[in-house]
Amino acid sequence: MKIEFVSSDTEIGKTCAVAVAAFDGGAMSAAAEALDKATRGAIVRAMAGGRFTGAMGQTLDLVAPHGLNAARVLIVGCGARDKFDPRAAELAAAHAYQAVKTSGADTLVIQMPGAPTEMSSHAAFGVRLAAYRFDKYRTTEKPEKKPSVKRVQIAVDDPKAAKKAFKTLDGLADAIAFTRDLVSEPANILYPEEFARRVRKLADLGLEVEILGEKEMKKLGMGALLGVGQGSVRESQLAVIQWKGARDSAAQPIAFVGKGVCFDTGGISIKGAEGMEEMITDMGGAAAVTGAMYALAARKAKVNAVGILGIVENMPDGNAQRPGDVVRTMSGQTVEVINTDAEGRLVLADAVWYCQDRFKPKFIVDLATLTGAIVISLGKDLAGLFSNNDELAANLLAASKASDDPLWRMPLPAQYEKKIESNVADMKNVGPRYGGSITAALFIQRFVNGIPWAHLDIASTAWKPASTIPTIPNGATGFGVRLLDRLVAAHYED
Ligand code: BES
Ligand code: MN
Ligand code: ZN
Repeated sequence: MKIEFVSSDTEIGKTCAVAVAAFDGGAMSAAAEALDKATRGAIVRAMAGGRFTGAMGQTLDLVAPHGLNAARVLIVGCGARDKFDPRAAELAAAHAYQAVKTSGADTLVIQMPGAPTEMSSHAAFGVRLAAYRFDKYRTTEKPEKKPSVKRVQIAVDDPKAAKKAFKTLDGLADAIAFTRDLVSEPANILYPEEFARRVRKLADLGLEVEILGEKEMKKLGMGALLGVGQGSVRESQLAVIQWKGARDSAAQPIAFVGKGVCFDTGGISIKGAEGMEEMITDMGGAAAVTGAMYALAARKAKVNAVGILGIVENMPDGNAQRPGDVVRTMSGQTVEVINTDAEGRLVLADAVWYCQDRFKPKFIVDLATLTGAIVISLGKDLAGLFSNNDELAANLLAASKASDDPLWRMPLPAQYEKKIESNVADMKNVGPRYGGSITAALFIQRFVNGIPWAHLDIASTAWKPASTIPTIPNGATGFGVRLLDRLVAAHYED
């Protein structure tokens, strides 16, 4: 799908679907009024006869309208006119794309005469998010399911200015697509070394990438991360991504850490067969961190940022870690591994420690598809936010509100610490079943050495098999990329 900005008076071809906005109460945009005139009132009649209220996401389709060359006209509900902001434009444009993508039209023209560039660029961004597809492994597809729309044109007064305004968002959409691709890839393709290879390619964007293998990690004493990967024939990797965009390239960085379990069988504490295939998404945290670093580099953010990815595969094997094993983490603390399926926190323990030990960052935000319990706590539309620092938590919540990556703050109660005490080691890797996402977060917190830290449990939001959000096609959501980009833009740039 190609996206372009064209002038409002560009002629509409026979194979085009033309989208125009209407608002609550059926109030028409200027473009809708123009089409209504051209069709001798067909739009007003259609709204009246189609129970069209103008609510956000409502669409009304006029096929082969008399008086116009277009294949169809789409009236797109945009909600309250006075609340029509860039985010609403994004959503409305995504709805428009979803409504016509398989309609047979090859071009969608979204009419936005008079709209400021911020609105039209966000509309283009919404379309890009909506049009994401992971179809590289399809060799056949039912024709009616294949998108017919190959080109989206945003018709505006000043296409040049709109195109320029879109550049940053275009980069962000690329970053989100990169993350979605990583999460969508099956584990036979995306194993740790392949993940690392794809990260390495981001050097083209100006990112500095280092990859540590098992030998290096052993030297550093990362017994927890290595224990998780020891049952896999694939070598574990630690990726270190740096973006030095601050005026002072030596200024203290901010840091993101991601759980990158390319596949989580559970290990010897093996998972049930039902739904296990979803565990190809268990590197969603690392993929989000990768995407966030991509986004910062793409827009040359004025910040120094570090992304650390702990990349492993959790497999059962003759050499796999056993329940009851005790591992020594890089921090020196020891862990009794009660359940090999609680592997993400083991990976993060060493990745988080390495991050603060080497980079002394201002703060760390870790992202991980960490627990099924967070899905029970919050449902599938909210990710869990745990933090030892109210300012960082507030900044994340504000970024969440502004970016449509929804977060809900969860507690870190000290009285639950005893639930992860071990009889043989400094701690064990699981607590009781209840409150499982909280004890998981408390576990990670033990590897944070007095700096501001937040943990985002995104097991609930990294993957949507049946999405109802127009900017999120079914499957990988790319959760976290916009959130972190926004966090940086709002608070941490020179
Ligand atoms: N990767 C899973 C968590 C998960 C669940 C991610 C659902 C995505 C969707 C994690 O490694 C895991 O297995 N957690 C266990 C922890 C338990 C053994 C304490 C869980 O949540 O059951
Ligand atoms: Mn697991
Ligand atoms: Zn896992």
